[in-house]
Amino acid sequence: MKERLEKLLTEALSELGGADAVDAALRLKVKYLGKKGEIAVFLSGLRNIADAERKAAGSLINKVKEDLEREVDKRIDAIKQREKAESLATERLDVTLPGRRFSAGRLHPVTQVAAEIEDIFHGLGFAVAEGPEVELDYYNFEALNIPKDHPARDMQDTFYVSEDVMLRTHTSPVQIRVMEKHNPPLRVIAPGTVYRRDSDITHTPMFHQVEGFMVDERVSFADLKGVLTSFLQQLFGKDTPTRFRPSFFPFTEPSAEVDIRCVICSGKGCRVCKASGWLEILGAGMIHPNVFKSAGYDSEKYSGFAFGAGIERIAMLKFGIDDLRLFFENDLRFLRQF
Ligand code: DAH
Repeated sequence: MKERLEKLLTEALSELGGADAVDAALRLKVKYLGKKGEIAVFLSGLRNIADAERKAAGSLINKVKEDLEREVDKRIDAIKQREKAESLATERLDVTLPGRRFSAGRLHPVTQVAAEIEDIFHGLGFAVAEGPEVELDYYNFEALNIPKDHPARDMQDTFYVSEDVMLRTHTSPVQIRVMEKHNPPLRVIAPGTVYRRDSDITHTPMFHQVEGFMVDERVSFADLKGVLTSFLQQLFGKDTPTRFRPSFFPFTEPSAEVDIRCVICSGKGCRVCKASGWLEILGAGMIHPNVFKSAGYDSEKYSGFAFGAGIERIAMLKFGIDDLRLFFENDLRFLRQF
């Protein structure tokens, strides 16, 4: 039995020497030292051994068993050490490598200018309202004192959805929608998207406007001038000269167009201001009694002013952009500059 045990030990050790992964070594542990392993066979053979020799045989088997256990554990340790050294040598982490850049998104210049306009009017006590982009003829024209056969309808080429439904051509219908729901005093602006059948360097079929209006008892043209001057000077600089010219809109009487001193040439005359030194920036006026009638307001008691401006136009002048279409081409080289 002694020889068989020695042979077993030699065999086991040589097999162990060939095991170069932890699980291989563990398999050998099971094979030799497991409950049904080779050593267990020897141990169960003890009962066939004569009483006198059993003790010595038992301790011999146990010694081999212990030797083997020690060797397996040593081998596993050695394998783990080697694997660790290998991974340290090959899996290097260079903490000095530059990190990956995250490119931050930014707001579209039109959105930025709309937000700035809202901010300024917020400071003047105005609330922000919205209305639908698909609008009824009634709100887009009729209630704004533009009846069916009124020539002013030609001022705006309209995208019709059906005879009475259209894409709104301006943000003025929001005036009516707000006045229907709320009573004066009111100070409201309504920025939003509008649509017209127009397409060239200075016109796109979709663009943005901001409408604004104030209604109360005794609102006068002086209020209109004061609010709009303050607005324009906050937007373009506190020393920007403004000019109010008589004009016509069906929904205001009297009506005006508001200019600022050309921001490109400071009034000397250039291509942008067509040598006039002035830039038209707003339409405005005192709200027409017929508009108050549509809203159900008493025009003897209340008065108010309204105005409308193109947001892209303001953005072009603020940022010095000369082609409106750049806003909608979504060229990142353009958008990243804002
Ligand atoms: N709705 C006009 C347009 O789209 C702009 C405008 C002019 C609005 C005068 C107003 C106003 O409220 O009083 O051209």
